[in-house]
Amino acid sequence: MSQDKFYVTTPIYYVNDKPHIGHAYTTILADVLARYNRSLDLPTFFLTGTDEHGQKVQKAAEAKGISPLEQCNDTVVRFQELWRELEITNDKFIRTTDTAHKQVVQDILQDLFDRDLIYKDEYSGFYCVPCERFFTEKDLDANKCCPECQREIQEIIESNYFFRMSQYQEWLIDYIKTHPEFIQPAFRANETLGFLKQPLGDLCISRPKSRLAWGIELPFDKDYVCYVWFDALINYISGIGYKQDDAHFNKWWPASYHLIGKDILTTHTVYWPTMMKAIGIELPETIFAHGWWLTGRDKMSKSLGNVVNPMEMIQKYGVDAFRYFLMAEMTLGQDASFTEEAFVNRYNSDLANDLGNLLSRVVKMNLRHRDGLIPQPNAYTDAEKELMAAVDNAVIEMEKAICDMRLNQGIEHVMNAVRAGNRYMEQTAPWTLAKKGDNERLDTVLYCAAEALRKVSVLLHPVMPGKMADLRKALGLSGGALNDIHIGKLKKSENILSGLEMNDIDALFLRVKLEEIESVQEAPEKKQKKKQKSNQQPAGKNELPEGVITVDDFFKTELKTAKILEAEKVKGADKLLRLQIEVGKEKRQLIAGIAEFYTPEEVVGKTIVVVANLKPAKIRGVESQGMLLAAKTGKELKIVTVDGDISSGASVG
Ligand code: ME8
Ligand code: MG
Repeated sequence: MSQDKFYVTTPIYYVNDKPHIGHAYTTILADVLARYNRSLDLPTFFLTGTDEHGQKVQKAAEAKGISPLEQCNDTVVRFQELWRELEITNDKFIRTTDTAHKQVVQDILQDLFDRDLIYKDEYSGFYCVPCERFFTEKDLDANKCCPECQREIQEIIESNYFFRMSQYQEWLIDYIKTHPEFIQPAFRANETLGFLKQPLGDLCISRPKSRLAWGIELPFDKDYVCYVWFDALINYISGIGYKQDDAHFNKWWPASYHLIGKDILTTHTVYWPTMMKAIGIELPETIFAHGWWLTGRDKMSKSLGNVVNPMEMIQKYGVDAFRYFLMAEMTLGQDASFTEEAFVNRYNSDLANDLGNLLSRVVKMNLRHRDGLIPQPNAYTDAEKELMAAVDNAVIEMEKAICDMRLNQGIEHVMNAVRAGNRYMEQTAPWTLAKKGDNERLDTVLYCAAEALRKVSVLLHPVMPGKMADLRKALGLSGGALNDIHIGKLKKSENILSGLEMNDIDALFLRVKLEEIESVQEAPEKKQKKKQKSNQQPAGKNELPEGVITVDDFFKTELKTAKILEAEKVKGADKLLRLQIEVGKEKRQLIAGIAEFYTPEEVVGKTIVVVANLKPAKIRGVESQGMLLAAKTGKELKIVTVDGDISSGASVG
């Protein structure tokens, strides 16, 4: 890594939906890296933002009956609010609808067009709307679906503009092979090299406005807008002033890290490098693709109802614990599983027990025996030397871990130092020293334990800025120079603490009881309201007449429109049809007892209404993921359909 500055980016997120844990993860990771590098005194720039053009956003807007820009404006604040809550310290937030960004994209397009690196041609291909990508017929999977997301794909023939990406294939292969740091982890570089074994086509970079109007207009043909990925990738340079502020751009480019999830590897390691080559700028040092957060062992998906909402986690457990868990739990590059149980376990053991406990012991002993004033230490024995060695080792390991993108290991070394601190307290037993009146030893022990915590607070500050500030306040480390949290300075041994006055502190992290969590999977806010309600109202007063439900009860059932894509009889079951349906972006299978009333041909193409949040069930051994609505009498049955055209996945109610 270049040693004179640090420029880190996240993907810019689509504004078709609110942010979830995956978005939070990449952004927290970038934030933690930015904070570490600032703490190592490296000039740092951290860019994040939103990807606002393209079909996804246009479709989301259409479904709500609002304009695409309204959709962007409504959703972008959800991201910005979440980043504020998560204490994200980005230096800039870029929106691809910003005038400056649009100008840069148009300048680049014009330049490439003038140099004949963009040309017009007729095109036929298969287009995946959710991935916003074109594929050729041979790319498709066995079901003729999108090879990336396995969803249905549309065949399209039209005139379009193309970027001469194919001419860079050999150069790119060579670049990747000769720059092992360029794509990390290394197995992802192999994945890209594998992709590059087939001939690389030119990249279609336009969309006719007749099909998609929501995008940046091509400066050389007003009937077209720019392909959303070609527009989006440019954010990494437009966000730091490319073609707008040369000094600023030259200061930060090339990026140290583009952090991305593994889902967008090809666009970042094939499209983007070839674009940069054509534009004539240096390539970023590293594109780092991290793994996937799963819910337990499953993919997170809206229809399965297992998407973790970061706002809810923050409300329940606090920002710092949430940031800590995400950083400590995932080995960078690999997938990780999120369960509330694992979260609570780690929270209790690492934060409440190990770290919180050490702090509370140190503060209490100092308050009780030294009026809260941190004493001057005397000669160190082996016990002190051992503790300081564990802490100093954590400093070295953390620095290495930051450089090598092994954050979870760095954190583990710090937690080892914390555990060494607790062992030290037990071994030296300051409470016994106090009883015996061994003041000389007691001074040393109280000082050393506090010193271990001081260093830990610096090391964990980038991960838990709020709680580490609280911890430092408890140690008397706040105000002016005492707020200095530079990791670089930890290597010098200096006595900062002696004479500082400690402040009593409530538990840094309150223990959480898993049993209580599991029984109520709700945000505390809601729990509170419930409690208040039940306190205020005498029992029985607000009960509903039998058979009457509230509007809240009704909305527990998530009704959605769905399109029937395929239907067939279920072998050996006369009454059942197996339906393949599309609910928004999701494909699902339903088993419906309608075979006596409808043939498979009759139902295909219908837009129906389904219960989308029903627990999947096996019917005659076949899984059914939801239920369709139908009206029935003894002899007749009619499927409930919607009046007119509406996209699938729309909510009904
Ligand atoms: O792809 N686990 O935006 P996007 C971990 N606009 N990370 C996850 C995740 C999960 N389950 N789900 C999402 C786009 N992410 C484009 C990017 S960049 C020029 C354009 C994170 O809103 C991860 O970083 O679909 C992933 O790459 C990104 O969100 C995708 O966000
Ligand atoms: Mg995505």
